[in-house]
Amino acid sequence: MTDARAIDELRTRFQTDLASASTSRDLQTVRDRYLGRKGGAIAGLMKQVASAAPADRPTLGRLANELKRDIDQALRERRTAAGADRPSADAIDVTLPGRGAAPGRRHPLTALREQIETIFARMGFTVLEGPEVEDEYHNFEALNMPADHPARDMQDTLYLADPLAAETASGPHDHPRTLLRTHTSGMQIRHMETHAPPVRIIAPGRVYRRDNLDVTHTPMFHQVEGLLVGEGVTMADLKGTLEAFLRELFDPDTKVMFRPSFFPYTEPSAEVFIGCLFCDGKGCGVCKKTGWLEILGSGMVHAAVFEAVGYDPERYTGWAFGLGIERVAMLKYRVDDIRLFYENDLRFLEQFPA
Ligand code: DAH
Repeated sequence: MTDARAIDELRTRFQTDLASASTSRDLQTVRDRYLGRKGGAIAGLMKQVASAAPADRPTLGRLANELKRDIDQALRERRTAAGADRPSADAIDVTLPGRGAAPGRRHPLTALREQIETIFARMGFTVLEGPEVEDEYHNFEALNMPADHPARDMQDTLYLADPLAAETASGPHDHPRTLLRTHTSGMQIRHMETHAPPVRIIAPGRVYRRDNLDVTHTPMFHQVEGLLVGEGVTMADLKGTLEAFLRELFDPDTKVMFRPSFFPYTEPSAEVFIGCLFCDGKGCGVCKKTGWLEILGSGMVHAAVFEAVGYDPERYTGWAFGLGIERVAMLKYRVDDIRLFYENDLRFLEQFPA
């Protein structure tokens, strides 16, 4: 049973509830309590009206409908006033750009190696790879470093365990040993052994030395070897090509200096320097006050090397170079500890161009 007074009381109760609702969640609770389809007060009221005496039904029905409309409108107004249609401060702002997954990127040494490859590829060089496990012949002997050469010393070279050593009464040195290549220069031999001139190659890759870890040494690092052989190739070609390469790698205004040096597999040999990137040649801590930074070793291929691979040294000449990728990276990006390249700390790696 219901009557007009009960409907009025329901209106009063709603107004009290609405007044004490403060959050949008409270408002939703009030809405459910009164307008909920099942168990809401209005739904209950409508059922009672339906079962009222036929004579009272029209009036009660009108009052009940008015109340329902007023409740709905009051709730809507409160919601708009409270800004409940706008997202609250802690809601997700769907208009913000997405946060994007952080993609992996190339390691700075890989990116630099690829940059070097690109520069030489444009000049017509082919990029080769070769074995890191090498034999003494390719790493030393054929490069004019005979058995008693100091570079072969156990101090510098990592030899692999020798399976024949135990059986050989006279010791491990009477047959060729296997080692981890100490430089990429063996790739000169490997390529010329299997290819006739002309030759234009670079060979990047890992090399290994018996060095203890410190700020400038790691037992594994990376080099790029270069070799060009043909008829009438001169030192001017070497200078022009390396100068063009270094100016593209560093800066178009880079100064390049060639200084006489010695390597067993080149004659003459030259160390190549660039004007210090940090003091503009004035002299600073990085260039040890000289104004120059040593970048690579190079020279005209030694006749003994051509003889080892069966090239006629009377007919062919050529030049070669070898450069350390870590050294270039340290100078180019001013990194003062080589070990940082191998620690895979994202705070370090993220600072490099991908
Ligand atoms: N192999 C030398 C090194 O490991 C670098 C080098 C010097 C390579 C002169 C060459 C060269 O091809 O001609 O330090």
